[in-house]
Amino acid sequence: MPATEVLVVDPFTPDAHRIARAATCLRAGGLVAFPTETVYGLGAHALDPVAVGRIFAAKGRPASDPLIVHIASLEELAPLVSRIPASVVPLARRFWPGPLTMVLPRHAIVPDAVTAGLGSVAVRVPAHPVARALLAAAGIPVAAPSANLFSRPSPTRASHVLHDLDGRIDLILDGGSTEVGVESTVIDLTGSIAVVLRPGAVSVEALREVLGEVEVRETAQQGETGTPMTSPGLLSKHYSPLAPLTLYEGLPRAALDRLQADARAAEADGRTVGVLDFGGEQDPGTIATRLYAALRDLDDKRPDLILVRGCDTEAGLGRAIQDRLRRAAAGRIIRV
Ligand code: TXA
Ligand code: MG
Repeated sequence: MPATEVLVVDPFTPDAHRIARAATCLRAGGLVAFPTETVYGLGAHALDPVAVGRIFAAKGRPASDPLIVHIASLEELAPLVSRIPASVVPLARRFWPGPLTMVLPRHAIVPDAVTAGLGSVAVRVPAHPVARALLAAAGIPVAAPSANLFSRPSPTRASHVLHDLDGRIDLILDGGSTEVGVESTVIDLTGSIAVVLRPGAVSVEALREVLGEVEVRETAQQGETGTPMTSPGLLSKHYSPLAPLTLYEGLPRAALDRLQADARAAEADGRTVGVLDFGGEQDPGTIATRLYAALRDLDDKRPDLILVRGCDTEAGLGRAIQDRLRRAAAGRIIRV
């Protein structure tokens, strides 16, 4: 593959010629990274199994992990699904375009490469003007995972994409930093009760306002004071930092004291410590925006260990932030 081309576009009113070039590349089976409101996605023609296969090769992603199909509007959903559950239209009216991914009964037109052979397909309509312009110009559904190498944090800037995927993909549309910073909420609508599979940018509270009952699948359980979780294997497909990461939770003052004491003890032992402390920041939206870039910066410094204090609240975006950090901690959670 030739070198990866980077096209800078205005995030609000992207240049039509540059969008058209990226759209042509997608239609021809190429790989294009583009900004969404959450993180950068790595797009390919969703109905072309060869193109979709390239996504997995570029990311080093296991074929068992299904992709989200991005469409320009609700009107483009029908061909991809075998049935439209009753909750789809009210959810779409409230959250689309936006960071909500709906898992729906799949139509056979969607390749197995996209769904990992499941009977369902995940779909969303992104809100970012660059993503919307690209989907409209391409006129095809676009499969897109986050545009990072497997086990790295999701990219919130074009430079993160270039760092991970330079020479492995055709094109990057550089529309600046993404706004939300954590991925879309994934909700399974195939059963009688809606189930959140991945907490994300749309809060569970907001989903309950529309649907009433919503279950949340507990993916990353909290460890008791420092004890490992029962099934860390579940975490393997998420960001795993280069150094072991320990997450401090609980009463803010006590958690900070414990983190600082542990950092001093490790340094006295001659180890280098990377600290990420969002404890002083009260707004989960601000933490989410900065989270992945901060984790990348920490990894780049190659500390021997990483100590993190995340969000003090589980409400709203706090749930998604703590979910990502707990997965990265892989059971190393200190609750004080
Ligand atoms: O915000 C986002 O969702 C970003 C942007 C680019 O749209 N995309 C993203 O994709 O985060 P990815 O591949 O990193 O995460 C997709 C998630 C995975 O947890 C995957 O297991 C789940 O969606 N998923 C996809 N298809 C599914 C299906 N049919 N059933 C259950 N889960 C599915
Ligand atoms: Mg991802």
